[in-house]
Amino acid sequence: MPDPFSPDGATIVVTGGASGIGRALVERFLSEGAAHVFVADLDPEHCAAVASALGERAHAIALDATDPAAVRSAVDRIDTIAGPIDLWCSNAGVARGDGLGTDADWEASWRIHVLAHLHVVRALFPRMAERGRGHLLVTASAAGLLTQLDCAPYTVTKHGAVALAEWLAMNHGDEGIGVSCLCPQGVNTPMTADDGPGAATRLGGDYIEPADVASAVVDALAEGRFLILPHAQAAEFERNRAADRDRWLAGMRRARARLHTQEAARESPESRA
Ligand SMILES: NC(=O)c1ccc[n+]([C@@H]2O[C@H](COP(=O)([O-])OP(=O)(O)OC[C@H]3O[C@@H](n4cnc5c(N)ncnc54)[C@H](O)[C@@H]3O)[C@@H](O)[C@H]2O)c1
Repeated sequence: MPDPFSPDGATIVVTGGASGIGRALVERFLSEGAAHVFVADLDPEHCAAVASALGERAHAIALDATDPAAVRSAVDRIDTIAGPIDLWCSNAGVARGDGLGTDADWEASWRIHVLAHLHVVRALFPRMAERGRGHLLVTASAAGLLTQLDCAPYTVTKHGAVALAEWLAMNHGDEGIGVSCLCPQGVNTPMTADDGPGAATRLGGDYIEPADVASAVVDALAEGRFLILPHAQAAEFERNRAADRDRWLAGMRRARARLHTQEAARESPESRA
């Protein structure tokens, strides 16, 4: 188990911090007394606007989390401005591709959902190991434990994120570095704003708010837990999957068929009339 982590007085970085779950994490860490929280995101102006709205302990840092040189330089800069990084939330993500997706969808998903975590580990873990402490939060998804029926590149690369987080927890826990893995189902953010009634994510139940996810993260970090499941039912789904894989696959096929039938009914001329 990772050591318990408290945001109070900590220096924290949140990638994808300008929107959705990332922004809720930034706000919650500030309200828990973090000394510095860095809003790390792609668009410099958006980052700056979000950080300046959140007060002087929030800082903007424009960062493409998929660029290893930019991540190394961000780690250096933050260290200089605010001292050693206590918690890095590797949260940035994209929803790309329908069904099997294109090669470009796979490439983009792999770069942000797997390699981005690797870049920060390479830049930051040697420093954390030297201090004997530090924490990495990987935002994966319930799609990485179960499956997101609409999108193969998202599902497979989020499985990669969970696998990498587990590998890191096993191989670096004894250096004093904690690793946690966040796996929400549906959350109301700009990423899901266009999800219609037939979106497969809705199979997991009602969407929750980003602030609920941030609460689950703070509680889990305080308890030193690896796996963070803001939707309680995800644990039950995962147990069912592990207990009988064939039964679970059959259930997922039935759910898929139900989704398609409902979609067809919505699109029929009678239902539009
Ligand atoms: N919303 C959900 O239902 C849901 C469910 C499970 C997991 N997640 C995961 O949570 C994380 C946050 O998603 P969200 O719903 O808040 O989405 P969002 O679209 O609101 O925010 C994602 C942020 O990541 C930033 N980003 C994208 N690529 C980046 C890059 N290369 N470098 C830096 N920043 C980058 C975007 O600019 C954006 O601000 C993602 O990893 C997503 O896969 C979301």
